[in-house]
This record gives sequence, C-alpha cells and structure tokens, in this order.
Amino acid sequence: MKPIIIVNFKTYLEATGERALKLAEVCARVSEESGLSIVAAPQSADLHRVAQLTRAYAQHMDPITPGSHTGWMLPHALKQAGATGTLINHSERRLTLADIDACVHMARELELTSVVCTNNIATTRAAAALEPDYVAVEPPELIGTGIAVSRADPEVISGSVDAVRRVNPKVRVLCGAGISNADDLVAAIELGAHGVLLASGIVKAPDQEEALRALVSKV
Ligand code: G3P
Repeated sequence: MKPIIIVNFKTYLEATGERALKLAEVCARVSEESGLSIVAAPQSADLHRVAQLTRAYAQHMDPITPGSHTGWMLPHALKQAGATGTLINHSERRLTLADIDACVHMARELELTSVVCTNNIATTRAAAALEPDYVAVEPPELIGTGIAVSRADPEVISGSVDAVRRVNPKVRVLCGAGISNADDLVAAIELGAHGVLLASGIVKAPDQEEALRALVSKV
C-alpha cells in the first residue's frame, strides 16, 4: 500500500491565504509526479479554495449538529467545503475522549476520512478502539523541532503499530513530529507506519516544492 503524506498547514503565514493555494498546487503536482497520496490540511478559512486544487483534510472538527453553535466547526460544513477527511484531536487542538468518539462517528457518517492524533502508545491504543481510519502518533516534545520521531523515538512508532494491530488491525498508523526529509519518511515506513503527518519541514522550507519532492524521493 502506498504511503500517505499529510501536510498540515497549521497557522503558518507561509501556508495562509494565497500562500495556502500555492502550497496546495505544490501538493497536487508532487502527488501527481510521485503517484503518492499527498493531502493538504489547510486552515478552515482556506479549505474551500484549497480543496479545488488538491485533496484536502480539515485540521479540526467539532462534534456538533447543525443549529446554534456560533464559532464552531460543523462537520457538514467541512464536507461541503470539499474536505475528504479531517484531523481530530491534534495536540494543538485537543478534545475530550467523548468528543473524539463522537467526531469519529460523525466523520464516518459523512464519509470523511478520520485521522485521530495521539501523543504516546497508550493514547494510540485508546484511539484505535474508537475505529478511526488512521491514528497519527506525534510526541508533542518533537513537534516543530526538526528532530524526526522516526529516528529520535522509533519505539513510539513500532509500539503504536503493535498496539493498534492488537486492538483493531483495520486502523492504519501514521506518525509525525520533526519529519522533514526522505530518510525520516523511509524510517517511519520501515517501522510499520502507513505514512506521515508533517508541517514545518515543508511549510517553512525556503523552497516548499523542492522540500516536498525531496521528501518523497526515496519511497
Ligand atoms: O501535524 C503535524 C505536526 O504536528 C508535526 O509538526 O512541524 O514537527 O512537522 P512538524
């Protein structure tokens, strides 16, 4: 199975507004050239426009139903904006366990791919029991450091893969934090991950296209 690469645009200015569209085009081009699934995860304000250019996941959704919820992120709105999936419980946007469960269910109902983020093996195990499409393990202390989880903390990936296999082998495992080059990606895949979730290594690179092309060059 080909790996999936999710580029989280976070709230970096280099991936906001017009620059989000440029990065989305980069994702589309490199995905096309490499044959890999490269998914953009832009801010909600950019989601609709980004989704016209490439495959896009939302960064967050709230487990709410249509009605009076000012300022929240309605799953149906994400779907209608063109998202094909969503991150849930990113370490920069934590939810309660009950909310994560509700989000996974709502994503399934709306046919949105669900990616539940976790921070260690124990939370990965708990998240797998909720049956999302993916669990993405990201040790928060490595996020944004450029120190790749797949090299600095390989056990958290192999341990997560093992834990998820025992709980529900249909759930796929991603990893993230500090991933920025081809060797980091290859190491993650060799440890059993189905792909990676990454941000600063691509978004903050002087040449985003070159960085993304280099990332996938050894897969
Ligand atoms: O969602 C991706 C993430 O939190 C990792 O960030 O900058 O370490 O690739 P980064």
